Amino acid sequence: MYRKQIKNICCIGAGYVGGPTMAVIADKCPDINVFVVDKNKSRIDAWNSPDLDLLPVYEPGLKEIIKRVRFKNLFFSTETIQNIKKADAIFISVNTPIKTSGLGAGQASNLKWVEACAKEIAEFSEGHTIVIEKSTLPVRTAEIIKKILFSKLKKDINHDKTFSILSNPEFLAEGTAIKDLEFPDRVLIGGEEENAINQLKTIYERWVEPSRIITTNLWSSELSKLVANAFLAQRISSINSISALCEKTGADINEVSRAIGFDSRIGSKFLKAGPGFGGSCFKKDILNLVYLSRYFGLKETANFWEQVVIINKWQKERIYSIIVNKLFGNITDKKIVILGFSFKANTNDVRESPAIEISQYLLSEGANLSISDPKVDEENIKLSLNGIKTGLSNQDLNEYGNWHFERDIYKALKNADAAIVLTEWDTYKTINWNKASDLMNSPGWIFDTRSIIDGNVVKDSGLEFWSLGNGDYD
Ligand code: NAD
Ligand code: UGA
Repeated sequence: MYRKQIKNICCIGAGYVGGPTMAVIADKCPDINVFVVDKNKSRIDAWNSPDLDLLPVYEPGLKEIIKRVRFKNLFFSTETIQNIKKADAIFISVNTPIKTSGLGAGQASNLKWVEACAKEIAEFSEGHTIVIEKSTLPVRTAEIIKKILFSKLKKDINHDKTFSILSNPEFLAEGTAIKDLEFPDRVLIGGEEENAINQLKTIYERWVEPSRIITTNLWSSELSKLVANAFLAQRISSINSISALCEKTGADINEVSRAIGFDSRIGSKFLKAGPGFGGSCFKKDILNLVYLSRYFGLKETANFWEQVVIINKWQKERIYSIIVNKLFGNITDKKIVILGFSFKANTNDVRESPAIEISQYLLSEGANLSISDPKVDEENIKLSLNGIKTGLSNQDLNEYGNWHFERDIYKALKNADAAIVLTEWDTYKTINWNKASDLMNSPGWIFDTRSIIDGNVVKDSGLEFWSLGNGDYD
């Protein structure tokens, strides 16, 4: 039984990781049945929707794969128990957000969803099951999962259950998830049992070069995931901190990025200055690293990484104050267009998007926002803008501005005083600035936080222009 091949996979969590990851596994392994379960029924209904434009996750290339494998060897359902029972391997791919209250609030991960999964697996699994951590977890979480799984076994002497625990963190980035899954830089598998490691390896080897499949012990694997995200985020905060210096000195952040990126020791990727990193993971994973470091008494390590998050917040505040200053220090009742609400291009995900905080700052000064995005739904914008405090001391809810959603860029720009490019969607690169200038009030300002707009064309149209990290436009 122990050595049997993996024939049935269950993945708990049908989110941005579970959905695309399992779709690719099902596509590459037609002989394996993959069952993705989630307690969120509307999410599962959306995954099963006949209209592939209604899938809950937007990722280039995902629709095509879903069309090939769904209802063949990839199934989405809410039936957790039944699918745990028949699974040879179970991926835990649930959310692990920051705790909002209690011990470690604001920094430590909330593991209640992971614990719930471990309890369900302990209760309902049959025979030998490989339990795989796919979620990003604090180092040594596998120990908790083991304790939950094995404590159940101790109580039930007639059981036929055995478990192997592996860590297999996911490194995909949203917007390029399918490419990242099909051609990963590496696949990381952490574990203690060679047999279980090899069984999981056999799955990835169907499409990933064996030399790219790295194996480590459990704790190195768990920690490497946090550290990889911390290093990536650190590069963004580093370049963003320099963008401010460029504005003061007449340097251009894109020229500086290019010049330093040519050094092969530095490398050119992840050096794009912007409005601050967003997404559900960078902030939470760094704060988790900070929490763990403090927990183990490593104050200097904690302070070092915390600075990455501090700079990220400062970048958003900085952009907001520049906008207010350019608009004569007053934005009350002015119409400001937010171009892009997702945290990066090619995703409909808005979690921790810089647009949320920047919009809140502007609303707190009484601006009227027209929010536009090609993929984000109005409902998600509403959910993310409601109830979020800006942290500004002068916040007076009575002076709050209003916002409305407008998918059509030109309708949004009508009678606007300013527009801010916050997401690098391709469609913003081809905006007709003469048309925009005719529609907007005078003086009308364009703020480009992603360096995707040709400032000369904007200026020729009669609009004012500011570009992040570009001393020429300061
Ligand atoms: P998500 O919120 O999109 O999806 C998680 C899903 O798990 C939700 O649909 C939720 O309903 C479901 N769930 C939670 N508990 C459950 C339970 N007990 N039974 C059934 N379903 C349950 O989250 P995500 O973005 O897919 O992230 C999942 C994990 O992967 C996180 O730990 C994250 O840090 C990590 N990760 C995310 C990304 C990314 O790009 N989003 C990339 C790499 C790693
Ligand atoms: C990131 C990592 O890139 C993935 O490897 C990891 O698996 C994932 O987090 C995770 O653990 O969730 P993701 O957040 O989806 O992926 O997207 P990124 O491309 O990393 O972008 C994150 C944020 O940084 C975005 O807001 C993006 O606009 C910003 N960014 C990125 C920059 O401002 N400049 C850059 O040069 C790169």
